[in-house]
Amino acid sequence: MTQAVRKILVTSGLLYANGPIHLGHLVETIQTDIWVRFQRLRGHNCYYVCGDDTHGTPVMLRAVQEGVSPEALIQRVQAEHQADFHSFHIQFDNYHSTHSEENRELTQDIYRRLKAAGLIEVRTIEQYFDPQKEMFLSDRFIRGECPRCHAADQYGDACEVCGATYDPTDLINPVSTLSGDTPILKESEHHFFRLGEAEDYLRKRMQQKTRLGDTVLQSDSINKLEEWFEAGLRDWDISRDAPYFGFEIPDAPGKYLYVWFDAPIGYMASFKNLCERKGLDFNAFWKPDSDAELHHFIGKDILYFHALFWPAVLHFADYRTPDRLHVHGFLTVDGQKMSKSRGTYITASSFAEHLSPEYLRYYYAAKLNDRTEDIDLNLDDFIARVNSNLIGKYINIASRSAGFISKKFEGRLAKEFDAEGQTLVTTLQQAADDIAELYETRRYSEAVRKIMALADQANEYINATKPWELAKDPQQTYRLQQLCTSNINLFRLLTIYLKPILPQLAQRVETFLNIEPLEWSHSQQVLTGCQINPYEHLATRIDPKQVKAMTDANAANTPTQQATTQDKNIDPVADTIGIDDFSKIDLRIARIIKAEHVEGADKLLQLTLDIGNGTRNVFAGIKQAYRPEQLEGKLTVMVANLAPRKMRFGVSEGMVLAAGPGGEELWILAPDEGAQPGMRVK
Ligand code: 2FM
Ligand code: ZN
Repeated sequence: MTQAVRKILVTSGLLYANGPIHLGHLVETIQTDIWVRFQRLRGHNCYYVCGDDTHGTPVMLRAVQEGVSPEALIQRVQAEHQADFHSFHIQFDNYHSTHSEENRELTQDIYRRLKAAGLIEVRTIEQYFDPQKEMFLSDRFIRGECPRCHAADQYGDACEVCGATYDPTDLINPVSTLSGDTPILKESEHHFFRLGEAEDYLRKRMQQKTRLGDTVLQSDSINKLEEWFEAGLRDWDISRDAPYFGFEIPDAPGKYLYVWFDAPIGYMASFKNLCERKGLDFNAFWKPDSDAELHHFIGKDILYFHALFWPAVLHFADYRTPDRLHVHGFLTVDGQKMSKSRGTYITASSFAEHLSPEYLRYYYAAKLNDRTEDIDLNLDDFIARVNSNLIGKYINIASRSAGFISKKFEGRLAKEFDAEGQTLVTTLQQAADDIAELYETRRYSEAVRKIMALADQANEYINATKPWELAKDPQQTYRLQQLCTSNINLFRLLTIYLKPILPQLAQRVETFLNIEPLEWSHSQQVLTGCQINPYEHLATRIDPKQVKAMTDANAANTPTQQATTQDKNIDPVADTIGIDDFSKIDLRIARIIKAEHVEGADKLLQLTLDIGNGTRNVFAGIKQAYRPEQLEGKLTVMVANLAPRKMRFGVSEGMVLAAGPGGEELWILAPDEGAQPGMRVK
């Protein structure tokens, strides 16, 4: 089927310029690259632009810490990012920076347009200020005692212990993390974008189908938006006071645009830079009447920016808005958040040092779908899938047939297949459209399953026809050549289908088969009667030792590992209480019947607890330590008579007991065998 050539612009999230790329980042760039490569193989004009997100306080402070200028820091980090992406075969058309002239011009121009449209309001607000460092402090740089549960050392916006959210001015005994001093309150003028003005437009846009025949967002993200609309769209503070590494606000000396204002404009800037270098028409992609498609690949944590602020800014500044936001979940490694001490906080460069980056591409593809759920890199499963599927099934087809073609037929393929071989080749050819649809809709795991099922059919055919037996019988020489020719064709077809995922391997196959670069439409052709090159090893199995060496290397890089075991600070025992005080606390055995993630909460899991005579809903700050599925069915101990607490996400009806310093190091209490839900702990 021929399709009109589409004009497509694709982006993935811009990377903060203050740290290395790790396997979590690669979930996004690999899936974007697979989609882009697929579109290019289909013959569409697909441009992929990205870059570094360079502005803001963390970059500024990191530069101070390293004793370099922010410009020098971002230049170094960008070079590292580009090298890492290159080793994972991410094929950007342009990799740019938000600290660029294109971005400055576009950002300041967009700000002016919004101002002219009456969408910017300037108001004076009171904010904490560090007198020693002479700078205003964002919530992340203030810590103090939680006004609700009185836990010590909490951030300025939310308590990690009880989950409360508040203003930094509510914190008890606030301290600036930059100087250790007590911050003072100081007034300052801020510029706000009136997001509420865009509500009608955004609500309509959320429901509408785009020219692609679908809504901009998948349904789980639409639900999230509904919640935000319900909560009300608040004005967005887009200004920051000097000192700040960013762009100055036009006609407002000493005021800078907040990093999140110029970051998405960085997508446009990167494309503009490409247009200037390649003579492309920027407006043809960005003006409201554009017939080009715009796709953003993003993580679920930055949906608010991309689904609300960004289209509102574009709309009011007279630019087109995205056709599709492809939203994905986070990465866990071996079922847990990446952890430095376990060696699973793996950087891109260390992965590439120990293993073929294409194996990660394959594994991610085998796991990814079009929903926003998290994906897990299980290292044992990773080894098993690469070895048994990729090598054992796919590569095996070539290695079992190619030797005969070289040795017995001087590298020449037969002119035609036999009837059975033809049938199987046709079956594989007919799968092209279905597989294409799976790539198009980002259902990569289904695509990989389908491709591997076809590889199974090919292997079954080889097992049944036994070319190694035919090779012993001189009467069967032509049949052997025909058989190996159809097998090589099956291998070639599978290579086309896997090419978006395994571009480098596909290139080696093209060299081996002595053919032009494969395109998707080549799946409807066959390769017969021609000369191929001698077979050389295309890929090797993973030795589990390689994975172990990689996690060991990453664990060795973390200085915190020993501190956690040796320098444990044991809290002093609290003041003595009488038995009467203790008996006021009603502790019960509870069974965790359900454990779920809480959207928007970094630390919390929502637990449904059975305590014998009913269920309780409890929000527990144990997300970094447990996956929901590890908890379901377990018995634990809860405080059953704690006053219910209203939290941002709902009411918490009690507390689960756990020990440990926090974060990943938390262990919930469990009773000995035989205890039943509802029993009182005395
Ligand atoms: O969350 C992040 O990592 C941001 N640097 C993503 C920015 S995406 C775009 F808006 F620039
Ligand atoms: Zn608290």
